[in-house]
Amino acid sequence: MKLPYAESYKIKMVEPIKKSTLKERAQWIKDAKYNLFNLKSEQVFVDLLTDSGTGAMSDRQWSAMMLGDESYAGASSYFKLKDAIKDLLGFDHFLPTHQGRAAENVLFSVLVKEGDVIPGNAHFDTTKGHIEFRKARAVDCTIDEAFDTTLDHPFKGNIDIKKLEKVIAETPKGKIPFILITITCNSAGGQPVSLANISEASAIAKKHGIPMIFDSARFAENAYFIKIREEGYHDKNVREIVKEMFSHADAMTMSSKKDAIVNMGGFIGLRSEDLFQKASVYNILFEGYVTYGGMSGRDMNALAQGLYEGTEFSYLESRIGQVAHLGQMLLEEGIPVQFPFGGHAIFVDAIRFLPQVPREQYIAQTLAIELYIEGGVRGVEIGTLLADRDPVSRENRYPELEMLRLAIPRRTYTNNHMAYVAASLKNVYDRRDEISYGLRIVQEAPIMRHFTVELEKVY
Ligand SMILES: Cc1ncc(COP(=O)(O)O)c(C=O)c1O
Repeated sequence: MKLPYAESYKIKMVEPIKKSTLKERAQWIKDAKYNLFNLKSEQVFVDLLTDSGTGAMSDRQWSAMMLGDESYAGASSYFKLKDAIKDLLGFDHFLPTHQGRAAENVLFSVLVKEGDVIPGNAHFDTTKGHIEFRKARAVDCTIDEAFDTTLDHPFKGNIDIKKLEKVIAETPKGKIPFILITITCNSAGGQPVSLANISEASAIAKKHGIPMIFDSARFAENAYFIKIREEGYHDKNVREIVKEMFSHADAMTMSSKKDAIVNMGGFIGLRSEDLFQKASVYNILFEGYVTYGGMSGRDMNALAQGLYEGTEFSYLESRIGQVAHLGQMLLEEGIPVQFPFGGHAIFVDAIRFLPQVPREQYIAQTLAIELYIEGGVRGVEIGTLLADRDPVSRENRYPELEMLRLAIPRRTYTNNHMAYVAASLKNVYDRRDEISYGLRIVQEAPIMRHFTVELEKVY
């Protein structure tokens, strides 16, 4: 018998979580203006809002924190992290930031100008926010296969090379400051990008003299998928694949709250000394001096250790195995999910789940609310609310898919929790025809509205 995967760690400390009643949850979500971000964490039983900063640190990370050097300048923790980034990712220069969007803010302050065009694979919302905030445009060049949740494709995060070439051909020279590849591609369902695709996109970038930047939050999960799914990589280890991936990048932004398994932190990795110098100015302005940039020494120590743990095969196998375990349970109940399963989350296809809810009434948000009321499980909408309005016309932008994302925090929940989530969603699925309402916006912010939006039910 083939032995199943099992976690490569055991549990040393636990945190209680509380169950509540259906009636309480119906009231709480109403009080929260039907926005799951407004719920208190104690009103949630299984929290799958995000895998960002919600993972469990290891004993090695906690002990590394005790050795943190809190010197303002030249802290040993900075050099420890610098060495880990050079060793694992291959970048000579780096700037610490307090999280991923801060890395975007610093780097884009140097690179992005009004009227610029940034092609990529389904830019993440903060990334797009930082581009549009600078009056530039993010163009999604993800392959069409990503938008058919039933289609089996090993690398649904890939860039469509023809779409990329078209954007380059149609954009005036000098107006594309970089091509941005997100690994894995969160917005398409935590889907990986193949090394063949990365190197093809990189060859095009080189041909046109355009730098290549990686949004790297889940780079290790991407490397794991390459090892498992891509021809020619089965015998390479995850860290060799990571090195090869990053060999195609001129710079990278990182939200360390994902694959580096820390609760807060980020950084920018750079090859060019000149770009490093330019970005340092903004880092000091927005984040902090170059050797701490928004992070305490202890956090940099935990991050350095986390980068090593996050790139271990046995860890990745159980992490991605748990996500797939949830996906498989849902699939067996006939629940429509993005397939193959992503690295950090299961994405439920809300249009196929609730076809009776009109798109202008926020289908995936409606489903998220129903799942919360059913079982106290908090997911997040990845659909029209998240897509925001067009910056010029102010009309709603309707993305290809309306998804409910169930993001699994790293090393945090057991498979019994996954079974609980699957049962909760199955109960909603069984009564899906009775769900006869959608949602209307009462109040929204001009950009990145999904965090603070207030909604009411419409029948
Ligand atoms: C792909 C991607 N890029 C960037 C970010 C932004 O990172 P942070 O939340 O640390 O600011 C995220 C966060 O979820 C992400 O998923």
